[in-house]
Amino acid sequence: MDNKPIIALDFSTKQEVRKFLEQFPSESLNLKIGMELFYQQGPEMLYELKTQGHDLFLDIKLHDIPTTVRKAMKGLASLGVDMVNLHAAGGRKMMEAAKEGLTAGTPAGQNSPILLAVTQLTSTTEQMIQEEQRLACSLEESVLHYAELAKASGADGVVCSVLEAEKIKKTIAPTFYRVTPGIRLAKDDTNDQHRVADPKTARISGASHIVVGRTITQSTVPFKTYQTVLKEWKGE
Ligand code: C5P
Repeated sequence: MDNKPIIALDFSTKQEVRKFLEQFPSESLNLKIGMELFYQQGPEMLYELKTQGHDLFLDIKLHDIPTTVRKAMKGLASLGVDMVNLHAAGGRKMMEAAKEGLTAGTPAGQNSPILLAVTQLTSTTEQMIQEEQRLACSLEESVLHYAELAKASGADGVVCSVLEAEKIKKTIAPTFYRVTPGIRLAKDDTNDQHRVADPKTARISGASHIVVGRTITQSTVPFKTYQTVLKEWKGE
């Protein structure tokens, strides 16, 4: 997957997806299919988007015992997605099992999907880390720890906020993916996200990829907004 912004297709029907994509010229896009769309439209939606030439990030954040995750990832690898993810909180054995499953399920001659580990959600706050997760460390320390664990477990990168991207790039490796959601243009509502940044800040703060949802999907002019995001992200 190249480093164009990844558009989060947070819709529940095929019709909404088709109507949205009709507003874009027919070129290859990076698209993220999350729980809302995948749980309702399933693999058929993936095949349709793949046939149109798009690169796909299946964002369904697996978190279960290692055997279940291995078998689930084996099945997902056969669907032709380019990127998948899980929660780093599931631990080293679960992440290693995921990698094994992806390798086992990838059809001969194809590349295995990129495996990303979610560190802490961009909707998570410092207060939630202390009061709800009861961690004995800060949010940033937790994200960096999960990034190191993910690397040691064979993941190809992490999902993190822009605020932690630079440190992960420096302490782990520039080739380790830092995929950052919570992206907003300056004038936008942050909605339920807390650790947000604009595309330019994401670029100069070490993100390798940005995920953009409502800023584009709720725009009255989605393609124009996508181009604005793309320009800021590329620094043009
Ligand atoms: O609309 P918005 O740009 O906030 O959408 C962000 C997308 O990224 C959503 O699909 C959400 O599920 C996803 N995501 C996130 N934070 C993470 C991982 C994924 O917001 N840590």
